[in-house]
Amino acid sequence: MNTTTFNALCKIVYNKSGIVLSENKLALVSARINRRLRALNIADPESYLTFLNAKGNDDEFVSLIDAISTNVTSFYRENEHFGFLAEALEQWVGAGQSSFTGWCAAASTGEEPYTLAMTCAETLSPRGATTRILATDISTDVLDKCREGIYRNDKMDGIPAAYRSKYFRNAPPSKLGDPQSQVTESLRKLLSFHRLNLSSPPFPMKGPMDFIFIRNVMIYFDDETRVRLLKEAYRLLKPGGYLMVGHSEGLTNIKSDFQLVRPSIYTK
Ligand SMILES: C[S@@+](CC[C@H](N)C(=O)[O-])C[C@H]1O[C@@H](n2cnc3c(N)ncnc32)[C@H](O)[C@@H]1O
Repeated sequence: MNTTTFNALCKIVYNKSGIVLSENKLALVSARINRRLRALNIADPESYLTFLNAKGNDDEFVSLIDAISTNVTSFYRENEHFGFLAEALEQWVGAGQSSFTGWCAAASTGEEPYTLAMTCAETLSPRGATTRILATDISTDVLDKCREGIYRNDKMDGIPAAYRSKYFRNAPPSKLGDPQSQVTESLRKLLSFHRLNLSSPPFPMKGPMDFIFIRNVMIYFDDETRVRLLKEAYRLLKPGGYLMVGHSEGLTNIKSDFQLVRPSIYTK
């Protein structure tokens, strides 16, 4: 891919998603775009750019972002956040609250929102309290995986054995023959899945939310996008609620009204 085409694609990706692609990502972007070229039977990146900009090909922007975004995630990733949340939920239930709302803002393939659902179910169900969790992502591909809730067993090591038997059932093996499990309906129904672009506030939700997880996605944005996103997160969080960000994403140099509770955990 030549530099002009790369720069033009970077501009489109930024405008559509807020994702900043630096020059050293040329090889990565080329590899990912190649998948789209094969799928569309297009000869080269330059023709792809023409196709992308042609009238009536708007759906391809979604596929482009699907192809470009990095979806790495895992169950119980950055585990301390879930322990912290469980303690907060216990305190709120103790103070008389009986229904809760949370938002998982970059849900990827579902491991994070399902970890949240297990945390909430384990903490709240015995106390007669309920939760609803909104799981959003810009990628339609990953949202389909979220809805399906099927995971390879070798990707489920982070889940405590008791929760695996309680919240998962055997599923048919993958195409390559790997054993898989599916999230139970009782856990799945705590969640709703929607496409949402974090770089385009305002968002349609009203709040107030008890907790918001925006983890390992702000690293792909510039400060301008981060500031706008955090402003919306602040609007949506209840006073005293918690915002969790990825461990490498502290808000130290970013303008926001959040107060630091401990590294990567903020409150309003
Ligand atoms: C590295 S994954 C992080 C997943 C999860 N939050 C975690 O910490 O394990 C980043 C996710 O952010 C999503 N993403 C990237 N840009 C986005 C945007 N502008 N709006 C919403 N989601 C976005 C990607 O599709 C991807 O699923």
